[in-house]
Amino acid sequence: MSDRRPGQIPDEPSGAIGGQSRTPSKSPIYRLRLGVENAPLGYEPEGAVGNTSGELNVSSGEEILAQGPYMGQEPVLRAKTIRDLQKLRKKGFEIDFDDTKHLGKGVYGTVYKGVYNDKISELSDKEGRRMDKAKSGQTFAAKYVQFLPNISPDMRLYHEIEKRIMKCLSHPNIVSIKIAINLGTRKVIRTPCGGQMVDINTFDRMFLAMECGICTLRDFGDDKRIDDRLAIEFAKQVAAGMNYMHEKGVIHGDAHKNNIMVFSGQSADQFVAKWIDFGRSVSRVHFGRWGIKIGDKEWEKIRQMDVKKLVETLKYLADIGPQNSRIPNTFDVQEIESLADELNTSTAPLVDVLQNYHFDLIPLPGGHPDVIDWDASDSDEEDSSDSDSD
Ligand SMILES: Nc1ncnc2c1ncn2[C@@H]1O[C@H](COP(=O)(O)OP(=O)(O)OP(=O)(O)O)[C@@H](O)[C@H]1O
Ligand SMILES: [Mg+2]
Repeated sequence: MSDRRPGQIPDEPSGAIGGQSRTPSKSPIYRLRLGVENAPLGYEPEGAVGNTSGELNVSSGEEILAQGPYMGQEPVLRAKTIRDLQKLRKKGFEIDFDDTKHLGKGVYGTVYKGVYNDKISELSDKEGRRMDKAKSGQTFAAKYVQFLPNISPDMRLYHEIEKRIMKCLSHPNIVSIKIAINLGTRKVIRTPCGGQMVDINTFDRMFLAMECGICTLRDFGDDKRIDDRLAIEFAKQVAAGMNYMHEKGVIHGDAHKNNIMVFSGQSADQFVAKWIDFGRSVSRVHFGRWGIKIGDKEWEKIRQMDVKKLVETLKYLADIGPQNSRIPNTFDVQEIESLADELNTSTAPLVDVLQNYHFDLIPLPGGHPDVIDWDASDSDEEDSSDSDSD
């Protein structure tokens, strides 16, 4: 039954996913944010907490925040998380939750370093293929977000978008999520879709555990570590990663060189570039489930914005590579420049342009060692037994 407030969402063109439609004047995330609301107090969604694949729920009893006003209570939430770290240790996660040593901090989340301990094998066994690459002693990166109870519900969306999109992407040039860790009690936010309200489960404190990189592409470049050979490798990799996400109906939405991480490769001089930070991403499938239809024209518009950002990164690589080359003129970055120029003017899908440039577009057979093999239910179809009924 719909209990959507009248006039809450602006008129939208009715184009179905994949259909032709007028481009709405507001972005998909703007439209999504506009419609989202907190579920009424005491509302209990169907389905137990804890059935969602790829998620670990750690209950920590009652939240200890004083009743509002909540301003200034962030340290109280943080203290609660520090106490929960003990429980996480027993599950196999040692997180160095120290703000003086974090791996990185964005507007939205802070990323800490973690190491699996020997308890991780129990979770690896239980989670099956998702966690089976996680071994005691391995490092991981844990992106942490926390929300005060009175935060506007739309602010919670970015983490939920990032988590869901990362779970459905599996590519060597996209950071792989290991597990989402939810602390404390579940909060439900809701969004209108086709006359119904769709629940989105969220929590006040959450970690996303993912594979751990060395540093951002930008920092790697600033350290003069990108020579001409690596520039070409990285160009191929970031293009392949973006092509894959576009083919999966995902737009990165914030595709600059700080949102590309460099990871160690198979040997000392090998490195792999991967896209990170999907908080501002758009997925046609997920947004569609939440009532935001993205027609072909709008899709094309935002896809081309992503490609323009890719062009900037390609130009950066073509520029910086030769500056750091040990033996000049061994590797020719001309191909990257030509690709950047063509992408700048082309309206063709990435895949059509890239195939003229001898770039590897096909994911490695059997997946990359670091890529989680998520269940089909986590990819395009929602698991009906899922407690997360969005
Ligand atoms: N998998 C990872 N391994 C190591 N460090 C990481 C990883 N993911 C993120 N970081 C570091 O943390 C920083 C912040 O991460 P991220 O960009 O995901 O956060 P954000 O709050 O969404 O950022 P933004 O301000 O760009 O929206 C990155 O710039 C990077 O330095
Ligand atoms: Mg970022």
